[in-house]
Amino acid sequence: MANLAVVGLQWGDEGKGKIVDYLAGEFDAVARFNGGSNAGHTVVIGGRKHTFHLVPSGALKGKELLIGAGVVVDPEVLSGELSLLPDETRRRLMVDGRCSLVSPLDKEFDRVLEELRGSAAIGTTRRGIGPSYAMRALRLSPRVSDIIDGFDFEPLLRFYGKQGVGTAGLLGWAEESKRLLSGITGDVGGRITAIAEKGGSILYEASQGTLLDLLHGSYPYVTSTHTTASYIPAALGIGPSLAGKPLGVAKCYTTRVGGGPFPTEISGDLAETLRGVGNEYGATTGRPRRVGWLDLVALKYAIRLNGSKEIALTKLDVLSQIRELKVCTAYRHEGSESTDFQSSLGRLDEVEPVYESPPPIHGAKFEGPLPADGRKFLGWLERELDVKVALLSYGEERSKTIEL
Ligand code: GDP
Ligand code: IMO
Ligand code: MG
Repeated sequence: MANLAVVGLQWGDEGKGKIVDYLAGEFDAVARFNGGSNAGHTVVIGGRKHTFHLVPSGALKGKELLIGAGVVVDPEVLSGELSLLPDETRRRLMVDGRCSLVSPLDKEFDRVLEELRGSAAIGTTRRGIGPSYAMRALRLSPRVSDIIDGFDFEPLLRFYGKQGVGTAGLLGWAEESKRLLSGITGDVGGRITAIAEKGGSILYEASQGTLLDLLHGSYPYVTSTHTTASYIPAALGIGPSLAGKPLGVAKCYTTRVGGGPFPTEISGDLAETLRGVGNEYGATTGRPRRVGWLDLVALKYAIRLNGSKEIALTKLDVLSQIRELKVCTAYRHEGSESTDFQSSLGRLDEVEPVYESPPPIHGAKFEGPLPADGRKFLGWLERELDVKVALLSYGEERSKTIEL
């Protein structure tokens, strides 16, 4: 089995957790490479729901679990997650010593920054992600290894003190973090390389989605790190040849949490129905997700950025409950049509989606062999996107997955 990279092709919450759990059995290890506890990845088995924020979604398949250097680790969240999993999970987990930590000060600063932005707030998860990556770039943040060795917090405290962020309680937090992380820290890049040299294989798990990428997403309404398959080797400390084949995950409609442009967003009764049927509420914050039609302009852009020739399509069961479907195939702006995902935020806000009606799937049932209307819909989408739909998901349960 070759290495495989599961990445989100929209604004997050595409169903990456479900797909990673489904595929993990074929791999020796599952590695998270980006983001932090802003991620909420859901796995449902026998009606029981598990939500992962930092622990890779392969946890329930008994796999080796790796958290690479590109991840920012909130020790309080990690500790909480481990306490819900069997004790042996901890023995299968390695956290890279080079990961930056998310401190309580980063979380408070996230809140302060959002309040300063007022009506232009990003709508962050308030998990301290942006501040933690920023402190890393400023060379002020403690890494996992630093907390274990003993870290000089003075420069960080001076910075945060000037921002009006309360700085008490940090040393207690550092002690707790050291207790949690000692014994599970290692060199994740080295471990992946060793597994590969023995003929083993790795499943990479992205958090967030391509359109939330710090460089290529709808900036500034993005997260504070990279979310595409191209980031994998850099983030994990491995050579590019180990990065694996990208498998993009896309929902067959679109959702977004937080602020920022969303050309195919819908409102009113239809939005309520789609949100209700799709249970579109954030796995991390519980916020109602904004919902809209599938946007092929944005999706093609994301497929290009990831070099993904195959995709996993999720939530067909939800779309099949909506009678009249629309899919956006181009954007119209000032009288002309284009299929460019604009870098200009103003334009992205102003574009009018050009819609087509895809082959109908209303009432389609996906148990057993793929129904004719389902096949027609997929064939149409594959031609539009020039990709193969390799996996199809038609329910939250692990078992409701079809390999094509
Ligand atoms: P992630 O962040 O990409 O892992 O996605 P989330 O877990 O945040 O959100 C996806 C939601 O959709 C979760 O509640 C999943 O249990 C659920 N889900 C995933 N695939 C399907 C599907 O095919 N059909 C339905 N109805 N729900 C799904
Ligand atoms: P998963 O891995 C959906 C969004 C936030 C906000 C922006 C910045 O579950 O797909 P941040 O807290 O990262 O500074 O917030 O990014 N966001 C997500 N949206 N799914 C996620 O992760 C997200 N992680 C961050 O809502 O708009
Ligand atoms: Mg999620």
